[in-house]
Amino acid sequence: MKGEYALKRTIPIAKPVLGREEVEAVRKVFESGILVQGERIKMFEKEFAEYIGVEHAVAVANGTLALDAALKALKLGSGDEVVTSAFSFIASSNCVLYQGAKPVFADIDPRTFNIDPADVAKKITAKTKAIIPIHLYGQPAEMGALKEIAEDHGIALVEDAAQAHGAEYEGRKVGGLGDIGCFSLYATKNMTTGEGGIITTNNRELARKVRLLINHGDTGKYNHVILGYNYRMSEASAAVGSVQLKKLDRSNEIRKKNASGLTRGIEMISGLTPPYVRDNVKHVFYQYVIRVEESYLMDRDKLAERMRGNEVGTAVHYPTPVYRQPLYKELGYGKTVCPIAEDASKRVLSLPVHPKVNEDDIAYILNILKEIS
Ligand SMILES: Cc1ncc(COP(=O)(O)O)c(C=O)c1O
Repeated sequence: MKGEYALKRTIPIAKPVLGREEVEAVRKVFESGILVQGERIKMFEKEFAEYIGVEHAVAVANGTLALDAALKALKLGSGDEVVTSAFSFIASSNCVLYQGAKPVFADIDPRTFNIDPADVAKKITAKTKAIIPIHLYGQPAEMGALKEIAEDHGIALVEDAAQAHGAEYEGRKVGGLGDIGCFSLYATKNMTTGEGGIITTNNRELARKVRLLINHGDTGKYNHVILGYNYRMSEASAAVGSVQLKKLDRSNEIRKKNASGLTRGIEMISGLTPPYVRDNVKHVFYQYVIRVEESYLMDRDKLAERMRGNEVGTAVHYPTPVYRQPLYKELGYGKTVCPIAEDASKRVLSLPVHPKVNEDDIAYILNILKEIS
């Protein structure tokens, strides 16, 4: 069994699901000659808003700019604080820095790796203007508790939904649970336009401001009413986005099935902990992340190396809490400590779960893990 699998398989950690339909959609755009600011963007925005169940969606060039535009629309600035997770991709807090505001890091839940509402509550001050939870790895953050905190303090709730297209919290899709939601459509995400992003909201005024911000503050015919930017998405990207959106539920189902298969095997291995899924959410497994416990026979990095030696791609999301990044140390975060994020950064290991992973791949991954363990 071992030899048979070992010789045959190379399983990357990520692979986009792209086919003829995307190629055809792009071809049509180029043939039309309308490459920017046309009907495809409008159509994609409408379809995405309907899918999430919100009134407005605004497509942008990437997820980082989605967050930036959202915070600019909320008028964040110097002296303001924003509480966000210590354990995320750096864009979640960098977008706060772009405003001249201060990210304040909250620790995480050790089981889900999502921001811990109890620690968020402790980090709120008179200067706090917003909370940015991240739906990490495709699992919604604890939005009920976070919404309560935001409402009690009269502050904004900005969802970083970059990793959670189609994920649900108590039956409602993320991106429509806070004041404004921000998605990334980067190449590895559950749906992609290569580079891309999209902002979702039920707040008409925020949607209006975001639309102005991403297009040089133009109300039409070169009438510029605010300082805006060019954060626009292209027509070709929007056309791909529409096709990808149609495939999203099916892709998420395959991710979920792959995750269940992996969990069934990993549960049997002492020292490895499969992902914990809260019972009030739909997790869409952007990443399938295990914990390599202290009791396991080797450390996380050694296990990753052994998997790599067997052609199984792995990744560490993320090897350090954000405040430990050189940039943040330089900014004076040297004394910040979030112990659970620190521990998680040493233990997490992402295994392939994307829709191009099939049952044989899962069997191969589990077989390798069992042999190593
Ligand atoms: C949690 C999180 N936030 C924000 C971003 C930024 O998105 P993008 O890479 O599209 O700028 C990413 C993406 O990669 C992400 O994972």
